[in-house]
Amino acid sequence: MKDFYQLFIQELKDIYAAEKSSLKLMTHVMHATKSSKLKEALKLHTEETKMQIKRLEQIAAELKEDFSNAKSDAMQGILKEWNHVVKPHFQNDVQDAAIIGFMQKIKHYEIALYGVLKTFAKHLNMTKVVDLLRESILEEGNADKKFTEIAEGTLFIGGINAKASRKVA
Ligand SMILES: [Fe+2]
Repeated sequence: MKDFYQLFIQELKDIYAAEKSSLKLMTHVMHATKSSKLKEALKLHTEETKMQIKRLEQIAAELKEDFSNAKSDAMQGILKEWNHVVKPHFQNDVQDAAIIGFMQKIKHYEIALYGVLKTFAKHLNMTKVVDLLRESILEEGNADKKFTEIAEGTLFIGGINAKASRKVA
């Protein structure tokens, strides 16, 4: 039980560090984005990320744990890719397609980790923590769907990927 709890804390610190470091990069991501629809989705998600960080701080307080020395090797790795996302020769739609792909890598890592954390918290009978984690999972899932919709379009409107793929270099 003690080891399982320690593992739970270790993973909570991972997501805390992941959220904080991805938040730091969001200003740059928004600045590089061309589509106003995508910019809007990124802006909303930045606000959600701030809330997700607050929820994790609430969990830390609840458990009387300190997350201040948290780090996420995996998220550091994903964020390093930012250097390859923005290219001066990319046309606008290609640039936005690259940004969506980058954001979805971040989302999928976070969704995986939040899912693990929620099942751990359930086994530890931490109802309040489960509820807080569930809220963040829902937000992450919606953000991911929104990015897919912007990339792929809807039944009636084509998305960024279709436009990006039609561009002749
Ligand atoms: Fe997040």
